[in-house]
Amino acid sequence: MTEQSAVLNLPNNQTFQIPIIEPVAGKPCLDIRKLGSQTQHFTYDSGFLSTASCRSTITFIDGEQGELWYRGYPIEQLAEKCNFLEVAYLLKNGELPNAQQKSEFENIVVHHSLIHEQLIKFYQGFRRDAHPMAVMTGVVGALSAFYHDVMDFRTQQDRDTSYVRLLGKMPTIIALAYKYSIGMPFMYPDNELSYSGNFLRMMFSNPCEEFKLNPVIERALDIIFILHADHEQNASTSTVRLAGSSGANPFACIAAGIACLWGPAHGGANEACLKMLEEIGDIKNIPHYIKRAKDKDDNFKLMGFGHRVYKNFDPRAKLMKKVCHQVLQELNLQDDPLFKLAMELEKIALEDDYFVSKQLYPNVDFYSGIVQKAIGIPTKMFTCVFALARTAGWLAQWEEMITDPEYKIGRPRQIYVGHQKRDVPDLLQR
Ligand code: CMC
Repeated sequence: MTEQSAVLNLPNNQTFQIPIIEPVAGKPCLDIRKLGSQTQHFTYDSGFLSTASCRSTITFIDGEQGELWYRGYPIEQLAEKCNFLEVAYLLKNGELPNAQQKSEFENIVVHHSLIHEQLIKFYQGFRRDAHPMAVMTGVVGALSAFYHDVMDFRTQQDRDTSYVRLLGKMPTIIALAYKYSIGMPFMYPDNELSYSGNFLRMMFSNPCEEFKLNPVIERALDIIFILHADHEQNASTSTVRLAGSSGANPFACIAAGIACLWGPAHGGANEACLKMLEEIGDIKNIPHYIKRAKDKDDNFKLMGFGHRVYKNFDPRAKLMKKVCHQVLQELNLQDDPLFKLAMELEKIALEDDYFVSKQLYPNVDFYSGIVQKAIGIPTKMFTCVFALARTAGWLAQWEEMITDPEYKIGRPRQIYVGHQKRDVPDLLQR
């Protein structure tokens, strides 16, 4: 819906009428798509500080109010009333499933949890001490070599099949990376268990003992998955969309998303945050690290703090802190020193002028490492858990893109600041 417009005055008395698009929620956008072809001018916005890359109906963030909705539903209500697979269904299909759809969807996802036996051999090519995100990037990318039977993504059927394959196999792929890294036997999935229950069993059971699932931990992990399931056009989601815009298959696109997520400014922050808390070590050392975070000449940042969009608080961080309390209580770890340290660090930072004036608040990654560590997930695997959950959102975003009538291959322009055209000198004259 375009009602208003703005006028851009360019050199040589050139003007350009800019339509203004009013979103359902959020800020109006200037539609500059025809600017280049009509005026021979482009826009510059490195880091997409002011640029929307697509229209989307999936997720909405209100950074000022600290709100997050999936398909219009607030994250707090979804975390309370739904499980992760219902949320995944919602992200993909636009509506929550009814009881029958829920049971059918859960059934089909768990029945795609096995991975090809040949793919299991693939792991042996990796060093045992390889970072599991490196393994995941490789193994997920390799899935396209196994499922080339379903590659006509113009059809709903092939898109749906790839979706349940990726979602179903992700816990198995991650658990296998973990088992391989510690030299333990691989545990096959158990289709009787819930999505998160099955992941916990594949991670922590072994063939010699009976495995008892703790329902509090199972539910906590499910909520962690819900909180990480989507987050509109963040770096990894934009990577998935950009990769997919060339027509690349979803396995390749998700592998690209995983690679991007790994970075410490994005999903890798949960691992970096836990390492930072361990490095701080004691409440008495907090002022020193706060000072470092504020020092322009020091590249140290308070990991788990700050967000491009949230300028009030990250609603996921609040929920994560609650989950953290529940898990630590269930495991009798209320006195966990890292949790105490994190709460004190949060308190001190939130009272500090630097963090207040720059609107830096704890983000989802601040408490997620502490919960995951308490559950027994090794630090190196934290971002894998994030990737597992985000696969639901990445795939929904990928499908929205390739079915969008406005979809085009992503192809940014640049401002060239290199040499003028020049001649190649002969070797002896260089
Ligand atoms: N500690 C200290 N200073 C910070 C921090 C921090 N964590 N975050 C931002 N700042 C400062 C930054 O130095 C800058 O200062 P100045 O204006 O003087 O140059 C100002 O605050 C604005 O920061 P920015 O880096 O320009 O903001 P951005 O929107 O480009 O980056 C961010 C957002 C999340 C990458 C950044 O806040 C950060 O690196 N945080 C730590 C890493 C982290 O926790 N990442 C997880 C993000 S949430 C989960 C996810 O989406 O993956």
